[in-house]
Amino acid sequence: MYKIVVRGGNELSGEVQISSAKNAVLPIIAASVMNGGIVVLKNIPLLEDVFIMCEILESLGAEIDFNTEIGELRIDSRNLKDVDPSDKLVQKLRASFVIMGAMLARFNRAKISFPGGCKIGSRPIDLHLKGFAALDSVVEKYHGYVEVKAKELKGSDIYLDSPSVGATQNIMMAATSAKGETVIRNAAKEPEIVDLANFLNAMGADVSGAGTETITIRGKKPCMDIEYTPIYDRIEAGTFIVAAAITKSKITVKGAVEEHLKAVLAKLKEMGLKIDSIGENTLIVDGRGTLIPVDIKTMPHPGFPTDMQAQFTALLSVVPGTSIITETVFENRFMHVSELVKMGANIKIDGRSAVVQGVDTLTGANVVATDLRAGAALILAGLIAEGETTVNDVHHIDRGYMKIEEKFKKIGADIKRIDV
Ligand code: EPZ
Repeated sequence: MYKIVVRGGNELSGEVQISSAKNAVLPIIAASVMNGGIVVLKNIPLLEDVFIMCEILESLGAEIDFNTEIGELRIDSRNLKDVDPSDKLVQKLRASFVIMGAMLARFNRAKISFPGGCKIGSRPIDLHLKGFAALDSVVEKYHGYVEVKAKELKGSDIYLDSPSVGATQNIMMAATSAKGETVIRNAAKEPEIVDLANFLNAMGADVSGAGTETITIRGKKPCMDIEYTPIYDRIEAGTFIVAAAITKSKITVKGAVEEHLKAVLAKLKEMGLKIDSIGENTLIVDGRGTLIPVDIKTMPHPGFPTDMQAQFTALLSVVPGTSIITETVFENRFMHVSELVKMGANIKIDGRSAVVQGVDTLTGANVVATDLRAGAALILAGLIAEGETTVNDVHHIDRGYMKIEEKFKKIGADIKRIDV
């Protein structure tokens, strides 16, 4: 177990390199077993969730070689077996549920234990199962398992009640093996959906419309061996951009794709942050001016991303004035608020909204990371709090941020990881 100790007050400077996106890499690793051959993924971040996803594939018979020196992941699924992933591993990683779409595409069958919810919400899978059933599968739930079987997957026209990222990914993967055409309506439009579609097409599938609300998949099994580099992590980039804003610093962020950050950059510019793009996915962020409060409402892409809500709550807690933050995607994603209040923030939760009154300073405290983005938000708060902030349970943070304290130290933060 580790904790991270931050001493506030340092100005940041220099440049930070963003890694590949956890939420693109995880579904792409799952989809890598669909060609029954070899896939080489490049620039793969050393994240806890990546290691767990690799462990799950190995338990299914895939051969994994992860060269962590260069972030190159080789996946050989020629000997993948039609067996069920272990409950223990599946419970450790909710995102592993996207394995179902890949296994269904490969074997016309998949069985997995119900993925745990997590602290930020109940995380239902009804839309995933609705999609599988629409593809002429039989979906059975028993003893905490979900089993999906099909004689032959058949294309279908599927409407998603809400634009679920995971359900869109699962259905997209399964539909590559369905006879005929599948249309997913009200599909999720996140950049990670587009990246998965590009990956599947590179392996020889036929997916069109990814990034829009209507995705069409023609039944064409992915069969080619390929090399692929996933997209940069827009949420990690957003997190470091907010770090410049909260510490009133000027830094360079490499691997920040403007196209993927439109809502986040729009809100930060509305607050008065200076952001210049110098091409090649590089942004110069200058937080040394005065910032004004804004209201935030999280929405499915291209709306403001829920995964940036906690970081903005930390930032707005020290911007003079009143901000209202409304979380519409998950039902319990304000757990960072009570920890920020321990540091002197003035935030009141009212249903799905948090009313933030900016304060002049925060003071360092002993706080707990309750989930991935909440943990990142507490580090951001620690960067400007008076004295020392100790963030406990940083394993949550390590799930989605590669060497976060090393990246912050490199741009001037007084931060260290302690083994407890
Ligand atoms: C993905 O989760 C991301 N995780 C999340 O990132 C992200 O917050 C989320 O998308 C929304 O952008 C990965 O990609 C691994 P959803 P996912 O299915 O796929 C409801 C992070 O911090 N819903 O779009 O689970 C559900 O209740 C993590 O990196 C149904 O009702 O998100 C939720 O409120 C956190 N039925 C909403 O949709 C379903 O069958 C969004 O869920 C599925 C979802």
